[in-house]
Amino acid sequence: MERTPEPELMDDLAQARAYAEEDFSEANSLFMEQFGKLYPQPVTGRALDLGCGPADITLRFARAYPGCHIDGIDGAEAMLNFGRQALEQEAGLQQRVTLICERLPAPSLTPGQYQHIISNSLLHHLHDPSLLWQTVTGCARPGASILIMDLLRPDTRSQVDALVERYAESAPDLLKRDFRNSLLAAFTPEEVAQQLRGAGLENLAVTRVSDRHMTISGYLQGPRSGDPFQLNN
Ligand SMILES: C[S@@+](CC[C@H](N)C(=O)[O-])C[C@H]1O[C@@H](n2cnc3c(N)ncnc32)[C@H](O)[C@@H]1O
Repeated sequence: MERTPEPELMDDLAQARAYAEEDFSEANSLFMEQFGKLYPQPVTGRALDLGCGPADITLRFARAYPGCHIDGIDGAEAMLNFGRQALEQEAGLQQRVTLICERLPAPSLTPGQYQHIISNSLLHHLHDPSLLWQTVTGCARPGASILIMDLLRPDTRSQVDALVERYAESAPDLLKRDFRNSLLAAFTPEEVAQQLRGAGLENLAVTRVSDRHMTISGYLQGPRSGDPFQLNN
């Protein structure tokens, strides 16, 4: 089945509210579990959450790793406002979480400053997926730990229907629609592997982690010999 892109930003208030009020704890816990398994060493320094939406994972990350400062970035003010409200409830996290409204490629982010880059469910929104990989290579420090999780595009429309039925049966119609559109807009692991090769990130692993999710993970390699920005002294 061919990919059908969906709108990039979730900047409609009703859509953002329905998303922010839905319980995504199963997927968001899976994300945090995967990060913990992949990167068991002490996690400190600066982290970046790309397409953070209402910031549930951003805040989970900040709670789990008290030695980290995390920046969450999203292009949709409507979504980010729900994140700001959630952050207001967490007095203990406010010094270590910054929420930024900006659309990728996000020129305000300082190149090479992040030790950890995370992102959940952004990739399938992007009309040009190379934007995500360029942002990762531009913003991460050499050796940074990367975890991207996203939906997998099923092979057939009837598989899409079955997943919507299974995971969104009791959800509001708006969310059912968005989940269906997201499955249709998602990439396959083969397509992602090809994107990674194009971005020079072929060392990252693409792994299926549930019936509808894959992760892309690994460390950002340092500058290679011959790269124009490498210092030789
Ligand atoms: C499905 S939501 C995921 C939110 C959050 N990461 C989560 O796991 O709940 C995707 C988010 O990506 C944002 N987004 C899409 N394209 C973007 C872009 N080009 N730049 C910044 N944010 C973008 C949308 O506005 C939306 O909030």
